[in-house]
Amino acid sequence: MRILLGVSGGIAAYKTPDLVRRLKRAGHEVRVACTHSALELVSRTALETVSGEPVLFETFTPRVHAGVEHIDLASWAELALVAPATANVIAKLACGLADDFLTTVLLACPAPLWLAPGMNTRMWDHPATRANVACLVERGARLIGPDEGELACGTTGVGRMSEPERIVEALQAHHARDLVLRGRTVLVTAGATREPLDAVRFLSNPSTGRMGVAVARAALDLGARVILVHAHLGVKVPAGVEAVFASSAVAMQGAVLSHRDRADLVVMTAAVGDFMPPETAPGKVKKEDVGETWNLTLVRTPDILAGLGQDRERSGARRPLLVGFAAETAGGDQDRLLTLARQKLSRKRCDAIFANDVQVPGAGFAGDTNLGLLVFADGRVHPLGPGTKDQVASALLSEVASSPGIVAAPPLP
Ligand code: C5P
Repeated sequence: MRILLGVSGGIAAYKTPDLVRRLKRAGHEVRVACTHSALELVSRTALETVSGEPVLFETFTPRVHAGVEHIDLASWAELALVAPATANVIAKLACGLADDFLTTVLLACPAPLWLAPGMNTRMWDHPATRANVACLVERGARLIGPDEGELACGTTGVGRMSEPERIVEALQAHHARDLVLRGRTVLVTAGATREPLDAVRFLSNPSTGRMGVAVARAALDLGARVILVHAHLGVKVPAGVEAVFASSAVAMQGAVLSHRDRADLVVMTAAVGDFMPPETAPGKVKKEDVGETWNLTLVRTPDILAGLGQDRERSGARRPLLVGFAAETAGGDQDRLLTLARQKLSRKRCDAIFANDVQVPGAGFAGDTNLGLLVFADGRVHPLGPGTKDQVASALLSEVASSPGIVAAPPLP
């Protein structure tokens, strides 16, 4: 792989010749771009010797290669790794600043970005750094470390750049993964629908869409193209997906149907409202006109997943593969959860249901974690979690991706 190594001015910069050597030994091509302060901590000659390439750090210097240096390098790179990534460089990347060679090349670089932060614990813990890191991770950047240990300032804590050996291991492990969904399109739904009563009121639920967004991210990670049909989210839409907004159950059904034919796999993670007012009052209903009690009549929303299951059965098609989610109250009883999941599977005619018991701590809406049973129509049952929603999402997709329906069918054109 062609790796652009960005070195910023953390003390751990002195370890980067070793990092370059290890990356090259692992078979990668490496070119180094530095900040000026990095060159106070590591010798340019050492980096040029181990990389076999000129180290770039000046925005306006006579050119080493023909063309515009930072654009050439940005286009050349298949992966950008910043190690050590200081609080300063992280802040600049989060804001999109390009006031030196390194940040200019990174801003122009479309390749995946990996960061190995290295800084003092208090700088790492500062809310500004936390927010900048969260912003970059949300845009798709990956973090290696920082680790806990002795810091240059003499204290001990989190902030130490991961050792070069561990950085190379993390990159190798990621790239050795089987991109089992490469060439496939996954349609994921996420978030809470809103069923409007009038111009200012709606019925909804507490879903934040975190699980659906985690599924979308996991699908991207496995190499898929992802269409994210989302209602209202409490988290950001991840970079790299084709996002389609649909506020209500009816709108979501329309969006799903219009993209279904492009999908190899549909994962319905959205918390779709089950009932809606038969019509929406055009303006704001005045409470004076309603009186003390507002008796609402509600009708069922379309069951999107069941509709997809029915259509597929009617047409005899094998695709898209359909996976549903089911939030159940089984009081911690796994057998009951399994029974409920199997009933839902056959009612919705889908291939798998991930059922979670919202009465079990660590499962369900709003939180960071999840656990439950992934139940396949062919009888397989896989307990997933407890783990973060990201971990559960990738375990779920890895299981689904190895299903005969996906493995046997060639990708859609
Ligand atoms: O029937 P229940 O709401 O428990 O089923 C949950 C599953 O069905 C989820 O995958 C959800 O996204 C989907 N669903 C749907 N249309 C609805 C309600 C739920 O597709 N109207």
